[in-house]
Amino acid sequence: MGGQPDIVSTVAELRARLATARKEGQRIGLVPTMGALHDGHLSLVRESRARSGLSVVSIFVNPTQFGPNEDFARYPRTFESDCAKLGGLADVVFAPSVGEMYPDGFATRIEVGGPALGLESDFRPHFFSGVATVVAKLLIAVMPDEATFGEKDYQQLLVIRRLVTDLGLPLEILAGETMREPDGLAMSSRNAYLSLDERKIASQLNIVLRDINKKVQQGERVAALEIEGREALFRAGFSGVDYVAVRDAETLAHIETLDRPARILAAAKIGTTRLIDNLAV
Ligand code: PAJ
Repeated sequence: MGGQPDIVSTVAELRARLATARKEGQRIGLVPTMGALHDGHLSLVRESRARSGLSVVSIFVNPTQFGPNEDFARYPRTFESDCAKLGGLADVVFAPSVGEMYPDGFATRIEVGGPALGLESDFRPHFFSGVATVVAKLLIAVMPDEATFGEKDYQQLLVIRRLVTDLGLPLEILAGETMREPDGLAMSSRNAYLSLDERKIASQLNIVLRDINKKVQQGERVAALEIEGREALFRAGFSGVDYVAVRDAETLAHIETLDRPARILAAAKIGTTRLIDNLAV
């Protein structure tokens, strides 16, 4: 490998391109993305590439996971520079059109429960069904041996693991750790929306989560810490706090104190920009 990835935009081309690799017994890895690639995405691609013979990255801003008042139209689209960043890292970029993924008359959606309930779903009710639908379609199109997702979107990762188990899809789901800016802010395509002042506020999200982490480990009660965290985010300048939650790391069930592996998750807004982050306890 090396050089620029092959760019394909239809499922038919993609299958033709992957057929040889599959026949040769190469392990195929997939990293699904919505583009506007940053080092967080690239770290997933590096991990996937190290384990597979052929590395596929999909770039598709998926309309079905955005709500009517969300940022689908203004979501950053930087296809040329994304492909340049994938030079020497990915073998194939799959970049379908909306019509290729959602043919005329499209009327099927995957309904998800379990880890999809609560948290993000309380604020973005159709989000995980849209994610599950597009990820299932991408997995069926590529039929990879493994697919890699980021812990940055921790609830999404659990939803996708559940989806793959429940549909009996024959592949491994792997998780990559969250890449951060030097001040702790989780890398995100949406950070591009932030003004300089907002960017300073944004860095407090991870600091607040780390503070909760310390306190929950010292035995403080979850309910009080969740309120404290929410107040700390408002004080830091966030204009809205969707949730600050300490949950069971596997099921996202509520917990009262740290009596099992847990995860701290938060979503908050600065103006019209919504940021999420999470930490392992
Ligand atoms: P997107 O936000 O582009 O993220 C693509 C993948 O990169 C996801 O698995 C996400 O968790 C991971 N990622 C994002 N920021 C990261 C960071 N700072 N460190 C490590 N990994 C990071 O998530 C989606 O797209 C979409 O919902 C998708 C799964 C592609 C379905 O449309």
